[in-house]
Amino acid sequence: MMPTIKNLKVMKDGENVSLILWVQTIRNMGKISFISTRDGTGEVQVVVKKSTKGFEFVDDLSIESAIMVKALIKKDERSKNGIELQAQELTVLNKSSNEYPIQPKEHSAAFLLENRHLWIRTPKQAAVLRIRSTIEVEAQNWLDSQGYYRVDSPILTPNACEGTTTLFNLEYFEQEAYLSQSGQLYNEAHALALGKVYCFGPTFRAEKSKTRKHLTEFWMLEPEAVGLDLNGLLEIQENLFVSLVKKVLEKNSDDLDTLERDVSKLKKIKAPFPRIHYVEALKILEKLNFKVKFGSDFGSEHEEALAEHVNHPFFITNFPSACKAFYMAIDPEDERLTLSVDLLAPEGGGEITGGAVRIADPVLLLEKIKEEGLDPKVFSWYHDLRKYGGVQTAGFGMGLERMVRWVTGIHHVRATIPFPRTIDRISP
Ligand code: 4AD
Ligand code: MG
Repeated sequence: MMPTIKNLKVMKDGENVSLILWVQTIRNMGKISFISTRDGTGEVQVVVKKSTKGFEFVDDLSIESAIMVKALIKKDERSKNGIELQAQELTVLNKSSNEYPIQPKEHSAAFLLENRHLWIRTPKQAAVLRIRSTIEVEAQNWLDSQGYYRVDSPILTPNACEGTTTLFNLEYFEQEAYLSQSGQLYNEAHALALGKVYCFGPTFRAEKSKTRKHLTEFWMLEPEAVGLDLNGLLEIQENLFVSLVKKVLEKNSDDLDTLERDVSKLKKIKAPFPRIHYVEALKILEKLNFKVKFGSDFGSEHEEALAEHVNHPFFITNFPSACKAFYMAIDPEDERLTLSVDLLAPEGGGEITGGAVRIADPVLLLEKIKEEGLDPKVFSWYHDLRKYGGVQTAGFGMGLERMVRWVTGIHHVRATIPFPRTIDRISP
């Protein structure tokens, strides 16, 4: 198989290689040219001398032209990754047309998003996507190491999971259907079949909000397990979070560098994370001069104030049932509250995960479904889970893009997914 720039690090000085590379910039000095190139795994400078076969093509190369280079590896401390390529032969595979849209200058966000199919090739965007890949793979490896089975929840569903206001409707032959807001309800069925499970796939919310944290299509990692209490649910989340941060620090240090991420913030993350009960959070907010009525959810200004106060990823637990989903178990210590938890991150990260212990009692569940204005007929299969050997399960959903956004320190969540979908964008 053809090597990549990343592979060069472990190769020896003077070794021969052939690589497919894309041109970033060219410095032409007459008898010698320096081409800075990339291939998605890294960047490397190619030195082309007048005596090199194919030197005559250099003059005509443009940004993002694809070239094939046969070269000698030269270890060189002064170059960016300690390696330079001395070309022996250069072939042009595709000469990019001269008006490559993304030039080394400032472009508007709208322009870059319109050209997202090309924008993802630029160093920062590619670094974010490599970190996303690490997080996706590590999350699954870590859950696998803890005995969780991967299952897949359907995307076309007849029932709402997270309220009826953010549903994407679609015509499903003669029937109404929606795009899944969360795989959780199916995961509860999976958990009663397999014990410890997780699903990981795209989820959809017709969010009208134009914020730095909201997408209409985003990926959610959703573990669910039998026999978990609220405390166990917190432990899984913090341990998963720590393992993700650790793996990114290990595998993507060059990418974090490219993104100018303050890694000291990542290095100090450790479990256990601080836990703040909802009622205590109200008191802290009051001291910080915020007034939140008991029963209300927190807005992003409250989340940010609390996060700054804690200055480490942390949990808020036991939210009121008035502001949370219908399936959450009631807190035995205060029936106005639920056995629920959000994981929040500092530096504007906001809510990264949301989870809860689920209602196990079939009578209470039916009441809640009706209270929420949902059609019990559509939820009959979900209700069945309580009728036939149902025991308490608990789980959470981690928004992949929220996690990637926080780890990379990137401003807007739309740069954490290859092709973002937001209220005003569904292309490219
Ligand atoms: O808190 P949420 O709504 O929880 C659920 O959907 C549960 N059913 C999950 C479960 O228990 N299995 O969403 C979970 C996470 C949020 O914490 C957030 O990180 C992310 O999904 N999220 C979004 N990310 C991007 N854009 C949006 N519009 C998001 N909505 C939620
Ligand atoms: Mg939530």
